[in-house]
Parts: sequence; structure tokens; C-alpha cells
Amino acid sequence: MSFKVSLFPGPHHFDATADTTLLQAALDAHLLVPYGCRDGACGACKGRVLTGEVDHGRSPESTLSTTEREQGGVLMCCAHARSDLSIECREVRSAQDIPVRKLPCRVASLDKVADDVMILKVKLPPTEEFQFRAGQYIDFLLPDGQRRSFSIANAPGGDTLELHIRQIPNGLFTSKVFTSMKPRDILRLEGPLGSFFLREAPEQGGDKPIILLAGGTGFAPIKAIVEYMQAQGIHRPTTLYWGARNRAGLYMHELAERWQQEIPGFDYRPVISDEVPDGWAGHKGLVHHAVIKDWPDLSAHQVYACGAPAMIDAARADFMQTCGLPEHAFFADAFSFASDNKL
Ligand SMILES: Cc1cc2nc3c(=O)[nH]c(=O)nc-3n(C[C@H](O)[C@H](O)[C@H](O)COP(=O)(O)OP(=O)(O)OC[C@H]3O[C@@H](n4cnc5c(N)ncnc54)[C@H](O)[C@@H]3O)c2cc1C
Ligand code: FES
Repeated sequence: MSFKVSLFPGPHHFDATADTTLLQAALDAHLLVPYGCRDGACGACKGRVLTGEVDHGRSPESTLSTTEREQGGVLMCCAHARSDLSIECREVRSAQDIPVRKLPCRVASLDKVADDVMILKVKLPPTEEFQFRAGQYIDFLLPDGQRRSFSIANAPGGDTLELHIRQIPNGLFTSKVFTSMKPRDILRLEGPLGSFFLREAPEQGGDKPIILLAGGTGFAPIKAIVEYMQAQGIHRPTTLYWGARNRAGLYMHELAERWQQEIPGFDYRPVISDEVPDGWAGHKGLVHHAVIKDWPDLSAHQVYACGAPAMIDAARADFMQTCGLPEHAFFADAFSFASDNKL
């Protein structure tokens, strides 16, 4: 049996069966609602049920509290329809133009740029055009059915995807990247995924100045967005904050410095939290605190943030409470851990 789900702001609707998550049903109907991790960890897909009943499925309390549920809150990536529904979402758009595909790819190169960061480049089949928006991510499909998510670090165009992979101790996939993976190995991927990309239309705030906030390998999708802006000649005033524990963690510091020289209106402010080198002229401490220090008023900005979930949560809360950033002007991809129960 299928139920009719209407999304607000409309006019968008789709059918959902009780055994499919609301997110999957929306994506199957080529509707792009905000989402990131697809496993209840990041909160990007949070909406509000206006009418009807849902089964919250595996929605964790940490992402959707009991109080939020009582007020109609819903995680679209976890919940299932139990009746016809109307749901309020932050943003809805047609995804018809960019299909999600499963493709093989070949490892082109592996470059270790820090003790725990590898730049992996993969080549796509020459016959297949892979479209994506700068900032989106792909899932590597592992032989045992598990998936691992990584952001694409280059702008669209060409047949190569660049990924910045942080080694996770005992991590199933990243350990292989650092030990046994080699050029010409074949991998399988699915993508593009996620709703982390630059909002350009004036009604989406596409003329506002931008704060880019990256933690560690959260630099990857930010790099893609900057390269895209460069290629398109988008010169909105942009300030990039890139945070790492030590100088080595800013593994493309020189590139970011070059952007500052070359791109009109682009400013780069690196931030080191732990092992601050002698003579360091940049910010020290938590990366989002550096933003608050420099921009006590963010009410006219858009923020694009990417990195560890704790950083994203703290930045969202502090920017809204302390700096007056409107909730709809904060876009984020939280690098949550993989779990076996993804879509
Ligand atoms: C949308 C999205 C985009 C992402 N993009 C990137 C990216 O561009 N670059 C990148 O380096 N990572 C990225 N990640 C994070 C990456 O997908 C996970 O870290 C992944 O779980 C690593 O896979 P693994 O098989 O090596 O480790 P797993 O086998 O999944 O994990 C092994 C153990 O380590 C823990 N763990 C896993 N990841 C982390 C972590 N990040 N920090 C601390 N502990 C962890 C797990 O809880 C588990 O106990 C992204 C995640 C999401 C959701
Ligand atoms: S919590 Fe639903 S996409 Fe992350």
C-alpha cells in the first residue's frame, strides 16, 4: 500500500510505501530534499510533520529528541509513512537533472599528503558521463554490501574524481586505502549524493557573502566549491576558515593561500587547535570560534560547513545563537561514521 506525501513549501508530492524511508521515496520521485549521512546521524534531513502519521524507524534520540518528535519533528532518512502525510522541509527542488548512478572506477593515483590523509584519484569509465554538483559526495560500495561516504574534492568536468581520505584507526575502508590499495585497482561507487552545494539563485540567498568552514578533510567539498566558483567566475565575498590540530593537517595550505592571491574577494584564515607552531600568525583554537571572533554578526551571510559532526553541531548552534545567522543560511555536511544500516 502506498501513501501520498505532500511537501511544503510545495507544490511537490510523491508516493511512499510503508517499507521505504521518506527520503528514499522522495529521491525515487526525483525530488531533492536536504540530506547528508542517510543514517540518522547528521540531522540534515529533519522536517516537520504537519498532518498524518509516521513510524520514526531507527531515528536516534541524539539527532531527533522526544520533544522534537512531539512537536512533529521527523528524520526523513529514517521515518516511514503510516498514512498520507504533509511534511514541511527546509528546501525542496527537482533532482531530475542529475541522476544517481552506480559505476565502476579505477584508482588513478594515491598521494599521501599528511600522516593520516591520502588523496585518492579515481578515473571513471570514458563512456560514462558522471554529473554532480560541487560539494556532493559519493559512496564506495564495498564487496560485503557496506558503503563508505567521501566528498568529491574537485569541481565537475573531466573523468576523474578526487577524494581526500582520512585514515581511521582500524577503519575497514580507509585502512585499505593506506595499506593495500594501488593504482589500477577497480572500485565501485554510487553518486552523486547529498545536498551540500552552493546556493546560487537570488531567492536562495545566492548574492550573500560566504563563510566556508572546513575541519580536517572537510576541506574536500569546500575545495570543490571554490574551484567551481573560480570556473564560473562567481566572485561573492568569501572567507575560508580551515581548522586542523596541527600545521600538517592543513595539507593544502599553499593552494588556499594561492586562492587568496588569485581570486578577487577571497580571504583564507587557517586555524590550528593543538600543536601551534612557533611564529604562527593565524588563528588558534577551535575553527568555529575563529569565525565568531571575526564575524560577531552573521545575519547577512551564508555559511557552508563541513567536517566532524561535533564541529558542525557546535557551529550551527553558536552561529545562530551568538551571531544571528538565520537557520536557513547554514548548509553543512557532517562526516558521520558509516553504519551498516544505510539506505
Ligand atoms: C556525507 C559524508 C561525507 C564524508 N566525506 C568524507 C571525506 O571526504 N573524507 C573523509 O576522510 N571522511 C569522510 N566521511 C567520513 C567517512 O565516511 C567515515 O569516516 C568512514 O566511516 C570511514 O570508513 P572506514 O571503513 O575506514 O571506517 P569504519 O570501519 O567505518 O570505522 C571503524 C571505526 O572507527 C570509527 N570511526 C569511523 N569514522 C570515524 C571518524 N570520521 N572519526 C572518528 N571515528 C571514526 C567507527 O565508529 C568505527 O568504530 C564522510 C562521511 C559522510 C557521512
Ligand atoms: S540524519 Fe537524515 S540524512 Fe543525516
